[in-house]
Amino acid sequence: MSTPALFNVAGKVVVVTGATGTLTGSAADYLATQGARVVYLGRSQSKLDTALAKIRGAHPAAEVLGLVADVSDRAALERARDAIVAKWGRVDALLNGAGGNQPGAVITPDKTFSDLDFAAFEQVIDLNLHGTVLPSLVFTPALLASNSASVINYSSASVARAVTRVVGYSAAKAAVDNFTRWLAVEFGRRTKGTVRVNALVPGFFLGEQNRRLLTNEDGSLTSRGQSICAMTPFGRFGTPDELHGAIHYLVADASKFVTGTTLVVDGGFGVFSGV
Ligand SMILES: NC(=O)c1ccc[n+]([C@@H]2O[C@H](COP(=O)([O-])OP(=O)(O)OC[C@H]3O[C@@H](n4cnc5c(N)ncnc54)[C@H](O)[C@@H]3O)[C@@H](O)[C@H]2O)c1
Repeated sequence: MSTPALFNVAGKVVVVTGATGTLTGSAADYLATQGARVVYLGRSQSKLDTALAKIRGAHPAAEVLGLVADVSDRAALERARDAIVAKWGRVDALLNGAGGNQPGAVITPDKTFSDLDFAAFEQVIDLNLHGTVLPSLVFTPALLASNSASVINYSSASVARAVTRVVGYSAAKAAVDNFTRWLAVEFGRRTKGTVRVNALVPGFFLGEQNRRLLTNEDGSLTSRGQSICAMTPFGRFGTPDELHGAIHYLVADASKFVTGTTLVVDGGFGVFSGV
């Protein structure tokens, strides 16, 4: 059965930053299996080689490209953009996936806000906020060359309601949400809808960054992991594939009139009072 046009992403040129991560890598691989031309941007050539070998092994027809680009490195992003435009002419979707936390910007139970490592706080703002703004800026000409483009920023469940400990990460992701709305209006007015901008709000998904916070060595839940599952009506963490549908929708023309929104994928965490 062929994919309905609304949801057809075949041939769309999709750029994923931080593409060798848990959620990002899963999204990049999924879109490649759907016929999108996927550009994996990452900091490590060897990790990119491994990711590309994996997807090509599983899907020999996958049209994928791996390019080294740190999201804080404007020149590297520009080189990547130019290589992509030379190969495929435009960018139809930009997934600003690179993001994460720093130990010093987390207030562990034995610490108080007064112990905050401000340099680590700044690094977290730098990666999550500046690391979303700069790729968006650099890829703008390539997005404008598309007749239907989508920017997808990665927000967090810690924006709408305070999540203990993660002070820097929450502030950075809140700013990403605001930037999402700002850029949606800017592109909306400028392109009359050709380029839309939305944010994905994943709830809690186990990845390399949060595994030690949420699970013990034997795989059982830490008390924080238990609290999160208790606050999630579905009673569990999400799995990376459970973001695919939302991402597919935002990349596809099915979301053609959707801009400036946040799409929450969290098993109900964000709406549950806990009672
Ligand atoms: N896992 C979750 O539960 C969760 C929840 C909400 C939001 N998010 C967000 O979703 C996005 C993807 O999360 P993930 O779980 O795949 O994280 P991840 O850590 O597995 O992947 C992030 C990737 O970004 C890369 N990266 C870090 N700094 C970079 C830089 N300067 N330049 C380029 N790449 C860089 C890392 O190497 C890594 O490959 C992140 O923005 C994260 O904050 C994750």
